[in-house]
Amino acid sequence: MRLSVNVDHFATIREARRSDEPEPVLAALLAELAGAEGIVCHIRGDRRHIKDRDLFLFRQSIKTKLNIEMAATEEMKRIALDVKPDVVSLVPERDEELTTEGGLDVAGNQEHLKDHIRELQKAGIKVSIFVDPDINQITACRDVGANLIEINTAKYSDLKPGEERDEALAEVKRSAVHGRQLGLEVHAGHGLDYKNVGPIVEIPELTEFSIGFSIIARSAIVGVEKAVREMVELLK
Ligand code: PXP
Repeated sequence: MRLSVNVDHFATIREARRSDEPEPVLAALLAELAGAEGIVCHIRGDRRHIKDRDLFLFRQSIKTKLNIEMAATEEMKRIALDVKPDVVSLVPERDEELTTEGGLDVAGNQEHLKDHIRELQKAGIKVSIFVDPDINQITACRDVGANLIEINTAKYSDLKPGEERDEALAEVKRSAVHGRQLGLEVHAGHGLDYKNVGPIVEIPELTEFSIGFSIIARSAIVGVEKAVREMVELLK
């Protein structure tokens, strides 16, 4: 069971002041030291957090695996071919959204995606697709030639423990089994946190989890005491 850490929101904090800290690359290296087996970031069309320079710095410094989330556009394909991450994760993108809102519509975009994926793979990049827990969409991921899928756990994550959440969990499980039967590597992510990750890790078909927000939120809290002490010392 591997953890990939999404470091986007270190860049969100940096961009809140258009500053040069916190440096997302440093956060990524510390995440690796702490046991992360991959680093994920999302380069958005509006560059609201991760910037192009971050991608090149990640590529030069990350020792585990660099996974860049991006839309399946020409602009993003050029960036991927320049940076050469280990994995590109294709995600849908809407300018107004706060975070990725759902899985990619693979079944409805097969021709475009097939060509797009083939070009990335020719450059030695593995292609993942972020997909809802939907059997038809997962079959389409295989049909367009993806190497792996990341099942969107947002519906599960947004629900409180109970029957409805159990059904959302069962949907993720059925989708993971289906993906494995098609020969795909199956990952999961979105909205996973310290309270809800337990039942998801019980699904043996899932080999990797992509987690960002909850880890960054917690690191801000667990770091407060040390950061304040350091400033108090300086003021003395
Ligand atoms: N997977 C994908 C495709 C995402 O877009 C995101 C959020 O950027 C994540 C996983 C991580 O989600 P979270 O930040 O809620 O842990």
